[in-house]
Amino acid sequence: MNGETEPSSRASVARASLAPDYDIARVIGGCWQLSEGHQTSAPGANHESVLEAFDRRADRGLTTFDCADIYTGVEALLGELVVRRRRAGKSAIEIHTKLVPDRSVLRALDHRYLESIVDRSLRRLRVERLDLVQFHWWDFAVPGWVEAMTGLDALRKAGKIRHLGVTNFDAEHLAPVLAAGVKIVSNQVQYSLLDDRPRGALSELARQHDFRLLTYGTLAGGFLSRRWLGQPAPREPLANRSLIKYRLIIEEAGGWDALQSVLGGLADLADGRGLTLEALATAAVLARPRVAAAIVGIRDGRHTEAHVAAARDRLDRATRDALDRLTAPLRSLDGPVYGLERVPEGRHAVIMKTDLNRRAPKRAGGET
Ligand SMILES: NC(=O)c1ccc[n+]([C@@H]2O[C@H](COP(=O)([O-])OP(=O)(O)OC[C@H]3O[C@@H](n4cnc5c(N)ncnc54)[C@H](OP(=O)(O)O)[C@@H]3O)[C@@H](O)[C@H]2O)c1
Repeated sequence: MNGETEPSSRASVARASLAPDYDIARVIGGCWQLSEGHQTSAPGANHESVLEAFDRRADRGLTTFDCADIYTGVEALLGELVVRRRRAGKSAIEIHTKLVPDRSVLRALDHRYLESIVDRSLRRLRVERLDLVQFHWWDFAVPGWVEAMTGLDALRKAGKIRHLGVTNFDAEHLAPVLAAGVKIVSNQVQYSLLDDRPRGALSELARQHDFRLLTYGTLAGGFLSRRWLGQPAPREPLANRSLIKYRLIIEEAGGWDALQSVLGGLADLADGRGLTLEALATAAVLARPRVAAAIVGIRDGRHTEAHVAAARDRLDRATRDALDRLTAPLRSLDGPVYGLERVPEGRHAVIMKTDLNRRAPKRAGGET
């Protein structure tokens, strides 16, 4: 039993339990897509219409949102959603943020720096306690992540954080955090039909220590959708940073033709089962051991109903076997989760922005 619950009258969406006192929607609204700089070509979304769309999304039972301290403008936006729903007397939502210390401060990281980022997230999100803080560490060659997690655990005990998680941790580097006695409820990792690096050691560690996986890249930034079926490979420049990221993942998995084979097979399987291709790609990941929820990127309300349905879909054994056969010809991505992304000067690393928190301690409070 994975801890999922059937939709109830309270919410029309399936939920998963991360802790005895904490459950979330099985499809989480991912908000990187709304951060400044994510779209490389299109204009930014209209603030008010996004708030309305997200409010309706929560009313439909998709109450969980993912953001980060470094997604510029997004914590403040979700803070407005919190206030709007509070004023309307609506039920609370769950907001998962991240704590991503700048790569350039890792060696000098101290407790004050961590606490200033937590305090800034509290102010931006307009809450007294953060539901979930997911910690990221850019470089495991630099020690200090276990101490940082211990420090965050102290902030949890002080009441500023409800639950702790991590993001992009492989089993080897997460094990010492767990050995230090820090309880985490989740690890947010890339997991999709193209990328199954979380299978194996990480999923086994999750089983042993009773934490869950929250997945991103489940639709490969939108490449795993019907809109790309039968299309030629896109030309540069790509429209947003997700597409840049997952175009490289497609190359690792075998290239554009390999993606087209998967999309063709997915379309056939989905049609035969009355599902959308995207819902099938999402349900395939939700069916993997230890996966609590898929974080799927949103910019507005266009995909709300599709996500309500995707959260509900469960796959039978025959479908899961068919998906395994479909993805078997793909090349397996090398190494553990986020291993390729950590290769210094590698093609996955050079596209990332690793110092977006730079002014956090000095500007705490002045950001929003
Ligand atoms: N921890 C990390 O390091 C990390 C890294 C990346 C992402 N994330 C998190 O994961 C979230 C997901 O982002 P991602 O970059 O991985 O992208 P993704 O979820 O794989 O793909 C998102 C894109 O797919 C399209 N889409 C969504 N639902 C759809 C549907 N039902 N049918 C058709 N198309 C659909 C949307 O494009 P359109 O809007 O153009 O339709 C959307 O922008 C982020 O927002 C963020 O919260 C975390």
